[in-house]
Parts: sequence; structure tokens; C-alpha cells
Amino acid sequence: MTVGDQTETARRVLVLNGPNLGRLGKREPSVYGTATYADLAVTCRQVGRELGFDVEVRQTEYEGELITWIHEACDNTIPVVLNAGAFTHYSYAVMDAVKMRTAPLVEVHLSNISAREDFRHQSVITGAATGIIAGFGLHSYVLALHAIAAQIAESAQREPLTVRPMANTAGEPTATGPDAREPDVL
Ligand code: DQA
Repeated sequence: MTVGDQTETARRVLVLNGPNLGRLGKREPSVYGTATYADLAVTCRQVGRELGFDVEVRQTEYEGELITWIHEACDNTIPVVLNAGAFTHYSYAVMDAVKMRTAPLVEVHLSNISAREDFRHQSVITGAATGIIAGFGLHSYVLALHAIAAQIAESAQREPLTVRPMANTAGEPTATGPDAREPDVL
């Protein structure tokens, strides 16, 4: 099954995790729960399959690597679920990368960042993301994948024609109707 995609191949989705998230299960279980990073990866891939996505789950301790992965998503129109960890609260570099997104990007947090220490109340990323889901543990990721599926389905309904207009001999587009539109960034 595919969602919002005319092709038969599953649509790629990247689930990107920033610092310390590889230590889930051991890390402050009273805040982040006892599920491990491996559990998170299995859940995301499984839910992704159900939604017709080919989900790749990655984690890094490094800001530059996270930014490079966001660039990869931007260049290939790949939707993203992003938990930037503590970078969320201060990395303008991650925010600038997210601003270049070409597909839905959902910010997620396991914990409810608004209910924690003051410095966690601000996310510099949210304003550049499609939306944010926080406070539901692993389920935040599940909800984010569903949100991406809904966004894609909605945009496919709004913009069923993404075929480029035929060019005339001068190389100029000939169509002026709706099928001449560029698809919106979701
Ligand atoms: C987190 C919340 C951040 O404040 C924290 O630095 C993390 C995890 C979350 O998923 O709840 O690393 O992003």
C-alpha cells in the first residue's frame, strides 16, 4: 500500500534522532520510559510499513551529521520525523536546515518539553517544522508518522496533477491551467 504516492514503491521517511537518544532505556527512565532505542526503531519501521512507508531510523551525537541528514531529506523530498534532543533548544544551525525542507517535517519529543525545566520550553525548530508532537513517549513517533501520512494524502487530493507541462519547440511551457503549477511544499 502507498499513501499519497502514485508509484508502487514505498515512500522513504527518515526518523532522525539527536544526542543521547541512542541511550533510551538506560537514560532517565522516569522521564523517557524504559523502551530502548532498538524498540523505537522497530516501532517506527513497523508503523511505517503499515502506512506504506520505507522508514529509516538514524541517531547521532553530532550536530553536523544531523544537519547533513536533514539536507539529504531536503534534496530528495523525503519527509522527516525529527527528535533533535537538546539541539532543539538552541541550535539555529538545525533550525536553518529545517527551514529548507521540501516535504513534511514533524518535530517530536518523548517528554512534554513544556512541562519540564524552563530552558526546554523553547524549541527553535518548531517554527520551521510542519508541526510538533511531544509528551507521548514512543507514541509521539507513531503519531508523527500518521501525521506525515495525513499530510501527504491531503496534498495529493489538493494537487492531483504534478505532471510538468509539455514544452513547445521554444522550450516554453504550453499549459497555463492547474497542471502547470509547481506542487506546494507540504
Ligand atoms: C527530548 C527533550 C529534550 O529536552 C532533551 O534534551 C532530549 C530528549 C525528548 O524527546 O523528550 O534529549 O527531545
